[in-house]
Amino acid sequence: MGLVLLERFWERIYMKAYDLILKKRNGDPLGKEELEFLVEGYVKEKIPDYQIAAFLMALFFRGMTSQELTDFTQIMASSGDMMDLSSIPGIKVDKHSTGGVGDKTTLILAPLVAAAGVPVAKVSGRCLGHTGGTIDKLSSIQGFKTELSVKEFLEKVRERGLAVVGQAANLVPADKKLYALRDVTATVDSIPLIASSIMSKKLASGAKGLVLDVKVGKGAFLKTREEARELARAMVDTGNRAGLKTVALLTDMNQPLGKAVGNALEVKEAVATLMGRGPDDLTHLCLALGSHMLVLGGKVKTPERGRKILEEILYSGKGLEKFRELIEGQGGKGEIIDKLELLPLASHIKIYEAPQRGFIKEINALKVGKAAMALGAGREKKEDPIDLSVGIELSKKGGEWVEKGEPLFFLHSNHKHKEEEALEILKDAISLTKEETPTFPLIYEEVY
Ligand code: URA
Repeated sequence: MGLVLLERFWERIYMKAYDLILKKRNGDPLGKEELEFLVEGYVKEKIPDYQIAAFLMALFFRGMTSQELTDFTQIMASSGDMMDLSSIPGIKVDKHSTGGVGDKTTLILAPLVAAAGVPVAKVSGRCLGHTGGTIDKLSSIQGFKTELSVKEFLEKVRERGLAVVGQAANLVPADKKLYALRDVTATVDSIPLIASSIMSKKLASGAKGLVLDVKVGKGAFLKTREEARELARAMVDTGNRAGLKTVALLTDMNQPLGKAVGNALEVKEAVATLMGRGPDDLTHLCLALGSHMLVLGGKVKTPERGRKILEEILYSGKGLEKFRELIEGQGGKGEIIDKLELLPLASHIKIYEAPQRGFIKEINALKVGKAAMALGAGREKKEDPIDLSVGIELSKKGGEWVEKGEPLFFLHSNHKHKEEEALEILKDAISLTKEETPTFPLIYEEVY
């Protein structure tokens, strides 16, 4: 044992970033200590950007073995604070979406799953680009604190069964540095780099079960099922190898999820859904993802049984009451549930009417997301301000019939020029046809 440690010590002393870049460039897998040397060296600023940039590019072309990916992900996860949820009884579960338009599932799922007795300790993100973020949606509830100390976060989960917070400053610093470098070196769209980036944050968040919602289609960053399947497989395998039980669902993001896009509008739709009056696709997806969370949380043996429990919670109003508890537990005004007019409201609503009659062949999620951004609902860069009140409501979904002049979209806006820009984008977002056309399935497949 002593000899092995001594050997490792000398290896570490003589390890050089150059040799590891060369090894990766030549297609040989790196060992755990070699990956540790690179990640730690980068975080501690002992290895310069240009060498890690070369390493990332070699990795982009050479990929990673499952063992390398698991080691790399675990090393990244432990580069900062790791949340310890062990003081909370039960198997804690988490959920992650790769990003969509109108995706407010966490607001519905977290209360449903928590009301079923499975603790939900959720770390969520802010919106970036055309896709939304849970933390911004929750920020539209007056007083809701999205930043809690670790102690407060644990207390909330212990007392109420759920808490949703933004990412702490020192969660996976390696990812923050690596992501910024990937962004300027054309190495973002690499499956092992995306998988390690997402899964390191999930490992550091401390849950023991994870359901991934991997979005596919025009409004997702993965456009094909093949790419989405590959990413899902990499993340599921990495999670399971690292002790985080993981399941992924590949779900549609060709059209927006539900009918509301924009922060306060999405909170409103989440409340309607928790009242049992939500759009079919959104309700169905929440029940599907949630039923897997109940399996991972040890509550039920099968997703079918999980779904039955969640349906009972949803239609009895217990999920809505849990949402009220979540809001009040984090300092927000629970009464917004009964008085939705307390949410931020835009000054003006503009109706976009159908230019002709027909079946809706497509409502392009990417374009709707961009139109919502043009209104001010999203941000281009991390530091940009956003307008929580604005957004777009759809009156119909793909496959439905619409008469000429019927409303297609309601644009909630605060500025005339932004509304005009959004209208221009929306004109191209919709296509109508005389023939009935099949719509995309909501859930494509499950990856275990
Ligand atoms: N989301 C992440 O957190 N990381 C990526 O690399 C891509 C999407």
